[in-house]
Amino acid sequence: DQARLTLDPAFAIGPVDRRLFGSFVEHMGRCVYTGIFEPGHPAADPDGLRTDVLELVRELGVTLVRYPGGNFVSNYRWEDGVGPVGDRPRRLDLAWRSLESNAFGLNEFMRWAALARVEPMMAVNLGTRGIAEAAELVEYCNLADGTAAADLRRKHGVAQPHDVRLWCLGNEMDGPWQIGSMTALEYGRLAARAGHAMKRVDPTIQLVACGSSKADMPTFAGWEATVLEQTYDHVDYLSLHSYYDPESQDAASFRAAAVNLDGFIDDIVATADHVRAKLRRGKRINLALDEWNVWYQSRFTEPEDRPIEDTPALIEDDYTVTDAMVVGNLLISMLRHADRVTVGNQAQLVNIIAPIRTTPGGAAWRQTIFHPFAHTARLARGTVLRAAVRSPAMTTGRYGEVPAVDAVATLDEPSGRLVVFAVNRSTEAVRLDLDLRAFPGLRAGQRISLAADDPSIGNTAAAPDRVRPRTEEMPALDGGRAAVVLPPVSWHALSFT
Ligand code: AHR
Repeated sequence: DQARLTLDPAFAIGPVDRRLFGSFVEHMGRCVYTGIFEPGHPAADPDGLRTDVLELVRELGVTLVRYPGGNFVSNYRWEDGVGPVGDRPRRLDLAWRSLESNAFGLNEFMRWAALARVEPMMAVNLGTRGIAEAAELVEYCNLADGTAAADLRRKHGVAQPHDVRLWCLGNEMDGPWQIGSMTALEYGRLAARAGHAMKRVDPTIQLVACGSSKADMPTFAGWEATVLEQTYDHVDYLSLHSYYDPESQDAASFRAAAVNLDGFIDDIVATADHVRAKLRRGKRINLALDEWNVWYQSRFTEPEDRPIEDTPALIEDDYTVTDAMVVGNLLISMLRHADRVTVGNQAQLVNIIAPIRTTPGGAAWRQTIFHPFAHTARLARGTVLRAAVRSPAMTTGRYGEVPAVDAVATLDEPSGRLVVFAVNRSTEAVRLDLDLRAFPGLRAGQRISLAADDPSIGNTAAAPDRVRPRTEEMPALDGGRAAVVLPPVSWHALSFT
């Protein structure tokens, strides 16, 4: 089979926003406790932060981390996690029915974020709490001094404000599973009022309103329209969440998950722009894909059916090469929408459906999905270019015939580096002919690929490097043309300078 890809620097979509390469740390399972934070671990620093995990986070190239939830935030009191650790209460978290010691809280997270070199993105509780607590949290984080909350932070030993730019107005408030879930109108009203108060504290912050928790929510699109009608003047982003379960659909549909994400994004952009026209506003609302990933969700046990536990091992999915290809393709879809999707948070960072796994007291290691994320975050710079792809089709149960090969490119003008990100979603090898004649003087560089004879294999604690990307030099361009073979179910980054 043969596919053809043509690029031209004139086909620009938009700049690569570095916030696309975000991740997510929730107080859930072992993401915080024995994930990023494990006092007594041989690699822990004096604050209990695992330096082996920090090293992997930096290698992953994460730019932004959302915290502290997720469903967790909807019954969380941020005040529980600040001040002397010995005075902090032990609580029952209703989202996961887990015990929360509060040994790790806001200031510990900010210390960790600085070491990880990531921008913090905070979520406020709009499930069991409201306007006053959200505004006070902004005051605690962002004001220098002279108010009760800012002075409390100083009393807690943090003289400089945390200066958090990006704030989520609650989490998945459309989901019946969410503590305090609401109708679109109830949520829209509350989010507008909370956002208004938060921006009175710090007018420079940016706010994310909750969109739908998934594309197939029964309230989808109507939710977005109503929420934006209520919040349009107060918010900067609308969120969407999208998880893909390899076991709840046919294998080809799973491999083509990015087709679903493409459509989900397009529908939300249309809805947001419809509200813009209806309200006669000038500004456009961009999208924050602030939870996305592969998640074997059909294996998940609902919190109601679990005993109350302290730090349970929840949804520690083991990822395969196929899952990594899908993650790489979801990143391609995000880049393709770089004109409107400008925030992305892979969920989650450590242990919970995560690129990084840890053993309590033991090692930290990379799952298969680590690799396409790390290389995309490192190589996708400058401007996203639309790739014109003609590809053989593959048949899926959900989406009918879809292209087997999907791709996008980025051009970093200062360095002249062009990178093509491509996947082969089919189970047949495909030869990809590249037409780069619109870039005179371009030279072929390296090709980084993730593939395996058996794409169902993954990494484990015992074999943490079984799956690794392969790097090789590409053959020279011939008159601006080149050809590469994409093995079945594979992900690639092809660099040219
Ligand atoms: O990431 C796991 C959970 O998935 C989050 O807490 C929630 O927001 C989503 O449903």
